[in-house]
This record gives sequence, structure tokens and C-alpha cells, in this order.
Amino acid sequence: MIETSPSSVDAVERGGSPMAGPRPPVLLPPPARPGEPWTADPYARALRTGRGPLYLRRLAPPALGAAELIPLDVERWCAGPDPADTGVLRRCAGPVLDVGCGPGRLVAALAADGVPALGVDVSPAAVARTRRHGGTALRRSVFDRLPREGRWGTVLLMDGNVGIGGDPAALFARLRDLVRPGGRLLAEAAADDVDERLTVRVEDARGRHGRPFPWARVGPTALLGAAETAGWIVTGRWTADGRPFAELHRPNREPALRHATCRHMDLPAAVCRDRTVG
Ligand SMILES: C[S@@+](CC[C@H](N)C(=O)[O-])C[C@H]1O[C@@H](n2cnc3c(N)ncnc32)[C@H](O)[C@@H]1O
Repeated sequence: MIETSPSSVDAVERGGSPMAGPRPPVLLPPPARPGEPWTADPYARALRTGRGPLYLRRLAPPALGAAELIPLDVERWCAGPDPADTGVLRRCAGPVLDVGCGPGRLVAALAADGVPALGVDVSPAAVARTRRHGGTALRRSVFDRLPREGRWGTVLLMDGNVGIGGDPAALFARLRDLVRPGGRLLAEAAADDVDERLTVRVEDARGRHGRPFPWARVGPTALLGAAETAGWIVTGRWTADGRPFAELHRPNREPALRHATCRHMDLPAAVCRDRTVG
């Protein structure tokens, strides 16, 4: 739970005056590990009130013309499911694991429909709000040991959560081990066709912020590429209310040995004669 005052770290990050010649190297505190709470207080405060404004501030690499503040849609996350969410919920086969469930609108809606669902989130405020709204949630990182590993019917990765951990390939590989063979992943991509690895922090309108952590912004093309590399099969794509979604399936039959560069994902690498195998 570390909250830093706007003045202290910023002063270091800005370096010297632009008039004083070349800027000194940017000194940032080390990024939080993926399992650390989502930078505590600005996020917790927003979830308690259900209101923003709240942002991810890009710390590195430099924004170079891109927006330095990426808005977080706190009001929508804290409301009930909208029609775009409902399209996702309709495709869920239980039991459902919502990764980075936030305040839990999807978990609560599934529970109300009698679909077994669990949210996991590193933020205590997110878990508390999910439970208050009738959902079941666990305060844990998706990279930690989870219940029912390899037996979930559907995993949800909504609202930019493909950014969790800052390494989409590692996240997709982890999720593949969570669902049952033939199970599905419903994932939302960024609206623009980006593929960025960032260091960010959560920040409110008054500049109060938490610790830096690794994040990724991934549009539809990069999302599908990373998912396929991790062995997911793309079975559907759609856009609702400007939000791009993909439906992916874990193959029913596992290759004896997965090889990222082999085009024949269902062949054991040992018997694959494909020259693209390294
Ligand atoms: C962009 S918000 C998503 C909001 C959410 N889907 C909703 O409906 O409100 C990202 C969420 O992922 C959570 N998170 C970040 N890193 C995580 C991790 N390693 N494991 C699980 N949850 C994580 C954050 O605490 C935050 O609630």
C-alpha cells in the first residue's frame, strides 16, 4: 500500500530544467511485481466512491506524442453490465474465472444468473466491492496458485486486463493452464491497434498516485498473435460499443510438447519435420 505524494517522485522523474542542457537519466522506483496490489489508494478510493477520474500515467517509455494519461473507466466498471458486457456474459460456460475482476460487475451478474463464477484481483478494495455486490472473489494474483486450475470452463480478461503483468504472452500461457481442455477465453483488446509494453502508475486528478508497475496495451491484432503463440485457437471476434472482443479456445487435445515456433501446434515437436522448428 504505497501512495506517493505528487511532488516527491515527480521531481526526480522530471529531471532538471529543460534549459539546463541534457536531461539526467530518469530515476524511477523499481516496478512492482505483477502480484502487488494495484497501487493502493487512488484506485481503492475510486472503487469506494464508484467514481473517477482515474488514470494510468505512462512513465516509460516516453509518451512521444501519445497521451501521457490513459483514462480508466471507473464509472462503467462500478455500474451494472452494459450491452457489450452482456454479449460477453452470454458466451460464458461455467464455471467462470474473471481475472482482474475489479469491482466485480461481471462476477455478480453471473452469480445472479446462477452461473458459478469467481473473481480474482490483487486489490483488496476490488475484492471487497465484488463481495458486497453478491459475487465471490479472492484476493490473489492470477500468477499465484488458484482454485480449480485446469478446470475452468471460461476465463474472462476484460477492460484492458490483457495488460496485467506487462507481458501478454506470459499471461496467455498462464490462462491456458487455468481452463479445461476445450475451455474458452473471452478477451477484450484495446480499441486501437497498439502493441505496447509500459511502466505506468495509477493516478487521480489531484496527482495522487501509487507505485509504478509493468503494463501492456494490446489491440486486436497483437492480442490474437500473442494468444495463438500461447496455443489458443481463435474461434470468434466481434466489436460492441467500440470495444473489440475475441473468443479463444484451448485445444481439446494437447501437443506432447509445445513449441512456440512450430506451425503444427498439434504435433509433438519431436516428430515435426517442419524446418521452422528451432
Ligand atoms: C483495468 S482494471 C479492470 C477492471 C475490471 N475488469 C472491472 O470490471 O472493473 C485491472 C484490474 O486488474 C487487477 N490486477 C492487476 N494485476 C493483477 C494480477 N496480477 N492478478 C489479478 N488481478 C490483477 C487490478 O487490481 C484491477 O482491478
